[in-house]
Amino acid sequence: MAEKMKSGAVGEELEVARGIAEDLRARGLFGDAAPGYYIRTFGCQQNEADSEQLAGIAEAMGFVPAPGPEGAKLILVNTCAIREHAEKKALSVIGTYKHVKDADPGVIIGVGGCMAAEAHRAETLKRSYPYVDFVFEPSSAFSLPSLVRDAMGGTRRFLSAGANGIAEGLPKVREKAYSAWLSVMYGCNNFCSYCIVPYVRGRERSRRPEDVVEEAKRLVDGGAKNITLLGQNVNSYGKDGDFGCGIAELMRRICRIDGDFELRFMTSHPKDASDELIDVIAEEKKVVKHFHLPVQSGSDRILAMMNRHYDRERYLSVVEKLRARVPDVTLTSDIIVGFPGEEEKDFLDTLDLMRLARFDMIFSFIYSPRVGTPAAKMEPQIPRDVSAERMERLLALGTALSEERNSRFVGRTLRVLADGVSRTDPGMMTGRGAPARPVHFPGGEELTGKFVNVDITGSGAFWIAGELSEKE
Ligand code: 5AD
Ligand code: SF4
Repeated sequence: MAEKMKSGAVGEELEVARGIAEDLRARGLFGDAAPGYYIRTFGCQQNEADSEQLAGIAEAMGFVPAPGPEGAKLILVNTCAIREHAEKKALSVIGTYKHVKDADPGVIIGVGGCMAAEAHRAETLKRSYPYVDFVFEPSSAFSLPSLVRDAMGGTRRFLSAGANGIAEGLPKVREKAYSAWLSVMYGCNNFCSYCIVPYVRGRERSRRPEDVVEEAKRLVDGGAKNITLLGQNVNSYGKDGDFGCGIAELMRRICRIDGDFELRFMTSHPKDASDELIDVIAEEKKVVKHFHLPVQSGSDRILAMMNRHYDRERYLSVVEKLRARVPDVTLTSDIIVGFPGEEEKDFLDTLDLMRLARFDMIFSFIYSPRVGTPAAKMEPQIPRDVSAERMERLLALGTALSEERNSRFVGRTLRVLADGVSRTDPGMMTGRGAPARPVHFPGGEELTGKFVNVDITGSGAFWIAGELSEKE
């Protein structure tokens, strides 16, 4: 069972955080004079959730939010390692912080996240980025206070060996009170042959259901209208524990919390997407009728090389079950093109599966070799121009499917959570609901964070639009 991080370790760090806050206070650095922190986040929802925790710890240390890196005294970069592009981007952004440090040597710069957990990248940061004060992998984020304290004392530190526990009880600063990420587990045991995640985020560790439900209660009490449960593979939730509660039961317990809120979850693995989970989506009113179920490829040969442990028939049987139980379900997926050895016929199998599954939306990626993963050494790697050409065809089909799927909402009334006014058109709002795409409707800022009914009048591949409904 996953080690729950000794509460002592977290307690000690929070003690260090209080010490830093007191020290700043003693130097008159509080209120308007308090030093600013700035966090730049790359990557997935898990990283966004982790950044909320980093912000919480930064504020416990007495720092206040800064609008940008210039003027901030603590700069944190939360990196992603899923594809090379994400790493290059993070390294280039870190590069731009050199001039911030040159202008003010008192600025503390830390790099965390998945890229920081890769030994070769940590080494690069150590050697080629001397103005970076510390590097910490994702499960060491709770050590931020002592890293900052040591940086203030002039010591550079590199925490690349995973602590691999769960740090409960850390403060969080959430960007929006009405919408929240809730991590239920960390890490992944699947070792898909292309994926870096198991190497950088360690083995699966599930939080205790009591801790998750307690946090969900606090979120709802604090005004959360939308809670998204996060885990690299949420279907495995609880399998590493002895608490007899899987993801389906966990979701049912959260749905019992009083209050008007909706519940989402991601990401699921097709090999263990269970009937119980499908039942929960079908039966629980608070659960949004949306299933994100990455297929990655429609070719059995490629799926086997990806080490996915299912074939297209098994995937399509899950989809069939899902559609039988939840006919109106929104189904989204991730697809990789140009995996090593992918031939035209494998790619055509992927397009065929997309048509059969009728995805509402796909997230598509050109395969990117990751150092240390088995697929990086597989032959032949696919030339960029071949992958790019396949990607174009994949996107064209994805767009056509989205357009067709979105049109089913026209003429219906959808309940959506208003998520702010449009930046380009201040009279228009964006809402989120069961559709994969945002729902646009005329409205004002006062609706943000509220559920509204929208009569849907039109749709395209990337949008759905309507008018506020008179109906209750
Ligand atoms: N190259 C391209 N895409 C990848 N993904 C994960 N690893 C890689 C890689 N090496 C994609 C998968 C996964 C999503 C989060 O990112 O589709 O589901
Ligand atoms: Fe990566 Fe596969 Fe784990 Fe998802 S299930 S995080 S793709 S190894």
